[in-house]
Amino acid sequence: MLEFNQLGKTWPDGTQALADVSLKVPRGQFCVVLGPSGAGKSTLLRAVNGLTQPSSGQVWIDGQQLTADTEHELRRRVAMIHQHFNLTLRMSVAANVLAGLLPAVSTGRALLGWFTPEQRSQACALLERVGLDPRHLQRRAGELSGGQQQRVGIARAFMLAPEVVLADEPVASLDPKIARDILGLICSAARERNTTVLCSLHQVELAREFGDRIVGMRAGRIVFDGTPAEFTDARMTQLYAGAQWGEQDPPSQPERESQPLAA
Ligand SMILES: Nc1ncnc2c1ncn2[C@@H]1O[C@H](COP(=O)(O)OP(=O)(O)OP(=O)(O)O)[C@@H](O)[C@H]1O
Ligand SMILES: [Mg+2]
Repeated sequence: MLEFNQLGKTWPDGTQALADVSLKVPRGQFCVVLGPSGAGKSTLLRAVNGLTQPSSGQVWIDGQQLTADTEHELRRRVAMIHQHFNLTLRMSVAANVLAGLLPAVSTGRALLGWFTPEQRSQACALLERVGLDPRHLQRRAGELSGGQQQRVGIARAFMLAPEVVLADEPVASLDPKIARDILGLICSAARERNTTVLCSLHQVELAREFGDRIVGMRAGRIVFDGTPAEFTDARMTQLYAGAQWGEQDPPSQPERESQPLAA
């Protein structure tokens, strides 16, 4: 269970990015976060791996609170897939996938490229799992297409068998067909491992197709929390246009939980 408890984030310039966000995401759920630009989606995701320090409230991962003391350990259990892939472009595909082990190996080992044969074969297996032929292993990551780079990003994210994967607009820079393929891969890889996914998206159709649950945010607050079927076109218009919801008056129950779909 990933849990946000009354999370707030106010930036030094006074911008309130998160306001009293409470949300429980059960293990294995694919939870999509939608909302207009500036709604607080990235801030919410980044609070889970310590990239953003909340101003108030707490984040819990399987009953353990994220604090300065626990952050290092919890980082092994939380992986991230980025919009712009965040690969080291001059390094090989293999090195980029193995970089997923960095939170769990010493810096010295990593710098010298000392990984065990098991770790290397795990990297190969994951690359195959995401549809990249092993012949790409020694290619420089910068030579790959965007879709291929994101496959490497997914393989890297799953190297430590994380409990939680954060995906911040993972398909924003990909064409619609590749975007669907990539989202399908994240979804199936997560289901196979019972991994919780918190994924921000701008594509409502993809959210409806892949999400077990949709959380809608506006101005740092949760204003919708329900299943894809409940996220009707009228709800979508409300979320993006904000026509009928006052920002202080969300109509949904943020504490609500929905079960993941059967695998
Ligand atoms: N480092 C920062 N310093 C100051 N304000 C910030 C910072 N990062 C984000 N913000 C502000 O916090 C609010 C929420 O930003 P956030 O990036 O979480 O939105 P988002 O929903 O991810 O938007 P998008 O869909 O454009 O990615 C915005 O008003 C943004 O300008
Ligand atoms: Mg964002």
